[in-house]
Amino acid sequence: MTTSDSLREEVRRKYADAALAVTEGSGCGCGSGACCEATERADFGQSLYTIEQRGELPNAAALASLGCGNPTAVAELHEGETVLDLGSGGGIDVILSAKRVGPAGTTYGLDMTDEMLALARQNAAEAGVTNVHFLKGLIEQIPLPADSVDVVISNCVINLSVDKPAVLTEIARVLKPGGRVGVSDIVAEDHLTAKQRGERGSYVGCIAGALSRSEYVAGLEAAGFEDVSVEFTHEVADGMHGAIVKAVKTREPEAKGLAVIQPAARAGCC
Ligand SMILES: C[S@@+](CC[C@H](N)C(=O)[O-])C[C@H]1O[C@@H](n2cnc3c(N)ncnc32)[C@H](O)[C@@H]1O
Repeated sequence: MTTSDSLREEVRRKYADAALAVTEGSGCGCGSGACCEATERADFGQSLYTIEQRGELPNAAALASLGCGNPTAVAELHEGETVLDLGSGGGIDVILSAKRVGPAGTTYGLDMTDEMLALARQNAAEAGVTNVHFLKGLIEQIPLPADSVDVVISNCVINLSVDKPAVLTEIARVLKPGGRVGVSDIVAEDHLTAKQRGERGSYVGCIAGALSRSEYVAGLEAAGFEDVSVEFTHEVADGMHGAIVKAVKTREPEAKGLAVIQPAARAGCC
């Protein structure tokens, strides 16, 4: 096993345990601060959902909220759109998105952890949403065709990826030209080195693997995005913030000298 493989396995195990804690009623996932790591400053993000939004959710979905923001509040979803949630966990943002896009729209939740997928499917059934599909897979190899998604959302997951350039390239591939990204994530201030980020929290706890603001912007631009913004919303550790990341997929990649990503070029993709 490579270091990347063992880190990813550590992440998978951590979130499998969090899902089981909710399913078996022995705990409350990470909403209490056990996963996306507890710091004196974290409330990582659960409270960023409105009372109305919480009212739309089954209890288990709210309990399994492990994010650091509320991407559905920033993505401005419209009826009939196709939405993809990367690292969908217990399904909270998938359920809220499915309600926003309505029966003419579709929401996909992608996660690598079986226990999370089982919890999410149960939560979606309980919430009565039928325009949802939960997919097992990696956010570094998204199992959807090119140019098939209007909006990509994600809540506190990209920092956990062992290959962030691959994630950003895959987001660009599956989005339609002009498609949007609206992501909540943990982001470091630019002056913090990788070592300093690691001193502030663990990798599985969503701290050590965080990109800095300028790394995020550069990564998105290199993958073919424009109108990129990274806005800090709340500090979770010294120099580390919950942030809203927004970008739009460039409509004319060739004109901008960006590589055109071929559909289905990746192994294992549909
Ligand atoms: C911090 S939790 C966030 C869950 C959900 N977005 C929320 O806000 O409650 C991270 C989730 O991402 C999933 N995950 C982490 N890395 C992943 C990867 N590389 N590919 C697919 N899923 C991943 C985990 O299984 C877990 O469900």
